[in-house]
Amino acid sequence: MNQKIRKCLFPAAGYGTRFLPATKATPKEMLPVLTKPLIQYGVEEALSAGIDTMAIVTGRGKRAIEDHFDRSYELEHQIDGTSKETLMDEIRTIIKTCTFSYTRQIEMKGLGHAILTGETLIGQEPFAVILADDLCDNEHDGVLAQMIELYEKHHCSIVAIEEVPNEDTHKYGVIAGEEIEAGLYRVSDMVEKPDPKDAPTNMAIIGRYILTPDIFEILKMTRPGKGGEIQITDALLEQAKQGNVLAYKFQGQRFDCGSVDGFVSATNYFYNKLTEK
Ligand code: UTP
Repeated sequence: MNQKIRKCLFPAAGYGTRFLPATKATPKEMLPVLTKPLIQYGVEEALSAGIDTMAIVTGRGKRAIEDHFDRSYELEHQIDGTSKETLMDEIRTIIKTCTFSYTRQIEMKGLGHAILTGETLIGQEPFAVILADDLCDNEHDGVLAQMIELYEKHHCSIVAIEEVPNEDTHKYGVIAGEEIEAGLYRVSDMVEKPDPKDAPTNMAIIGRYILTPDIFEILKMTRPGKGGEIQITDALLEQAKQGNVLAYKFQGQRFDCGSVDGFVSATNYFYNKLTEK
């Protein structure tokens, strides 16, 4: 399967309950780190990896995401010719360069189910997935760009991983595997949110994936797993059994902006980066 990665899927239908009440009427993905919503950072990462087709799985109450990636004539008319115009430069470039398509997940049955809902937007080609609440930054190539470079060599599914403290394994999908080159593992096992005592390693999957399209057929057969949700980890394990999943220790920083602590760390990090310039 030598197809190029052209599309990035953003599952963004989750309730974001850890951020209530902020997420009662505002999508979690629209919470800003400094002045940019989380999902815009994700779209910029995809764009810098050479992807210009964004496919977003939304849900009820998430319409602000669609409005964000659209023109706002009244506002733009208001600020045209003022010093504030530059604040819109990045989003204007995104709107000009990318296409966006949306589909809704009607019942929130988990990340695997959200990805399957995106099948209609992706079709039969390999694709990237970004969970916008995992905010990544790197001095050089972004995490997705690093993964696409690997995909072009290996042509199989790839998950980004990070070593986490042992006591945190219950928050992540955790992998085990053989290291085939520095920082790259062929996955032999995956467990969703294991207790530290049951975790095969402390190598946790973060919110960046490259998936081959056979994942959709596997997801259709995947029964609800941990937490009663359809888990992408369970579907990936089926691919891993065929030796078709790699796990990559990415270069860069990751902030779990789905948690208050991670969100505050990201805000401090980007603020320091801005003020150090
Ligand atoms: P999370 O596990 O962070 O869940 O989902 P959540 O609902 O967003 O947040 P909390 O835990 O209630 O605070 C991981 C990613 O999967 C998406 C979320 O939008 C997020 O990007 N997701 C999850 C869906 O799109 N649909 C689902 O049914 C579940």
